[in-house]
Amino acid sequence: MMSPRHFLLFLPFLLAFSILPDSTCAAGTIIFTTLGRSRYNFDIFSLPIASSSSRRRPIAVDRHGEHRLTDGVSVNFNGYFPSLASSSFLSSLLPSSSSSVDSLLYVSERNGSSAIYLDLFLASSSPSTRRDALELQTRLQFPLVPAPDDAAAESDPNVSMKDRPSLSGDLLVYVSTHQPNPSPRQSWAAVYSTHLPTGRTRRLTPSGIADFSPAVSPSGAWTAVASYGAAGWPGDVEELRTAIYVFRTEDGSGRTLVVDHGGWPCWADESTLYFHRRGSDGWWSIYRATISVGTTTVSLESVVRITPAGFHAFTPATSAGAPGIIAVATRRQTSNYRHIELIDMRSGTNAYVEVTRPVTPYSHNYNPFISPEGSQVGYHRCRGSGNGNPSLLLENIKSSYPEAFSLLRVDGSFPSFSPDGERIAYVKLPGLFVVNSDGSGGPREVFSGIAFPTAWDWKRKGTIYTSYGPDFATEGTQVDIISITLPDEDDDDAGNAQPSIKKLTTGGANNAFPSPSPDGKWVVFRSGRSGHKNLYIMDAVEGESAGIHRLTEGPWSDTMCNWSPDGEWIAFASDRDNPGGGSFAIYMVHPNGTGLRRVVHSGSGGRTNHPWFSPDSKSLVFTSDYGAVSAEPISNPHHYQPYGEIFTVGIDGSDIRRLTHNSFEDGTPTWTPYFLEPADVAESLQGSAWCEFDDCHWLNIQAQLDEAARGTSC
Ligand SMILES: *[C@@H]1O[C@H](CO)[C@@H](O)[C@H](O)[C@H]1NC(C)=O
Ligand SMILES: *[C@@H]1O[C@H](CO)[C@@H](O)[C@H](O)[C@H]1NC(C)=O
Ligand SMILES: *[C@@H]1O[C@H](CO)[C@@H](O)[C@H](O)[C@H]1NC(C)=O
Repeated sequence: MMSPRHFLLFLPFLLAFSILPDSTCAAGTIIFTTLGRSRYNFDIFSLPIASSSSRRRPIAVDRHGEHRLTDGVSVNFNGYFPSLASSSFLSSLLPSSSSSVDSLLYVSERNGSSAIYLDLFLASSSPSTRRDALELQTRLQFPLVPAPDDAAAESDPNVSMKDRPSLSGDLLVYVSTHQPNPSPRQSWAAVYSTHLPTGRTRRLTPSGIADFSPAVSPSGAWTAVASYGAAGWPGDVEELRTAIYVFRTEDGSGRTLVVDHGGWPCWADESTLYFHRRGSDGWWSIYRATISVGTTTVSLESVVRITPAGFHAFTPATSAGAPGIIAVATRRQTSNYRHIELIDMRSGTNAYVEVTRPVTPYSHNYNPFISPEGSQVGYHRCRGSGNGNPSLLLENIKSSYPEAFSLLRVDGSFPSFSPDGERIAYVKLPGLFVVNSDGSGGPREVFSGIAFPTAWDWKRKGTIYTSYGPDFATEGTQVDIISITLPDEDDDDAGNAQPSIKKLTTGGANNAFPSPSPDGKWVVFRSGRSGHKNLYIMDAVEGESAGIHRLTEGPWSDTMCNWSPDGEWIAFASDRDNPGGGSFAIYMVHPNGTGLRRVVHSGSGGRTNHPWFSPDSKSLVFTSDYGAVSAEPISNPHHYQPYGEIFTVGIDGSDIRRLTHNSFEDGTPTWTPYFLEPADVAESLQGSAWCEFDDCHWLNIQAQLDEAARGTSC
């Protein structure tokens, strides 16, 4: 593997431009943003649980024994400790002379896509303690699903999200978004199994259904999942109001609803499931379901709440080797961070044992799991700046359509390319930045206010349009369209010249989302000046003072407009189907106001936003909830719109293609004709910026209390 230093030095030179020889099909580069994602840097860690056979002595965690189990380079999360002893396939991977100290299954995002990995840690000499063993370990790594570069992956180019792996005997059970859900606005997440010795994969979730968070019972016979069932996703972004179903792990048969409200199931034994649910009192809590499993039927006997009101407890994990112990994540009033705790239920009264707060008090820790013999608890968190690996300004994302375009994630929002493809403008609040497309020279701040989005003039080199003022504001809020003209870098006399800023709107209302016409004469934008957000066109150089023309009119919101490169169309997002209802569809209209039509809509209540034309004006890239959510949102950091994924569609509404697969919030895509070679560009972050992301806002107890206090005091 290249050292981080090599990585930094060489990548900028690997980037090169070329225009695809035959650009009759849509081509080029699509660039988009993922909220907070470039700050995650997740690794999986473990802590030993001090065993005590006495039920009277509480369990303890050795807080000095934390180990990082994953590589410190990739984004690694959602771990699982498999039982080597029960898998002949895994045992066969061990070199004959060595013994394994640990094994870990997990999800890793590398080279722009997610895959499931298995690491075996081999003791390299005879250590006296397990800790010594871990320090002497050798790591053997096996990419399991998909195996990069294998023949199967080549014949099936579908890119997908992989998640929540577990192992039962030789059967790997996991979530994948590999196959489309036939209905719009429904999740593609489904549970699959792969028999490791033969590679035979089968789908366990029925077609058209979405399943999340699978857990296999200790015997392997049954798998429990959180699922919407046939009713489908209603648009939830905080708690998914899923039900718990169980089915036979072997073939998905015997699918039965066991708990009508719950998520993230885990098995303590063949007839006991723990799960989480947000109770009617608002607190996320752990519940225990007792089920009765017959040869052909499964039925629910009772549900009991385990954790009380007053704090949030969620994402439970159990192990057959640690009876009476549950690992959970909590949010308590005493900490602004998500921490892992163990609940010791052996004495009859529940004792709570802190796991991560004594070790890393100021980090969020996610999704615990316990080893088969009950001796370790694992979890993932942001590793910080450790190992000196760079964070990425531009990250190449593996695409199912690599021949059509390359796909890049930028560490900022509202990215757009200059018409010559040489520069990218993007927003990182508060501020608007420009960077060379190969990352050289680093980002330069060209405007320091709150600005969104960015669009380059087609004719005047170095002119960028944006809007200055608060985002997501009401119709009457003052937001103005401005143009920023960068100093001419080819002009030797320019020296340290500053960008020149010109305010184009004078109407005083909420004016935003400027997009220039390809002839450089006009700018289309949305304005709230009539009391509703509609589209207007003004002079690109003189602005509103040289006249303004209204393009759309009605008591609804038209916004996020984009002028096609051939000049014929303006695409925009609108809620005109159900004004104020929160649902947006994508429309197109000719600049002269004729030809209005709806292009794409993701179903009743759906959201399709931020359209941007392809270089040939025949397709649009946009962000949408068309693929719903791909994981329980509580298992991730905060995302306002965890359903956001990037799609393309023909302007006639045909051929919808999904480009991104993850459980995060992807948005604000744009498209340039220039083909950027798939490669990453590193950025150097300030020390404090490494783990800057928020935990789910709706779990913040202190904020809720503050809000309640404000509410009562006035
Ligand atoms: C994938 O990423 C790793 C670093 O995580 C790097 O060493 C490797 O060369 C990359 N592979 C490809 C095919 O780009
Ligand atoms: C790949 O995706 C296509 C549609 O995008 C789907 O029809 C096909 O079944 C998928 N391939 C596999 C092997 O699941
Ligand atoms: C409006 O513009 C479209 C596209 O340029 C054109 O086809 C149409 O004839 C125009 N209609 C009018 C009334 O000018």
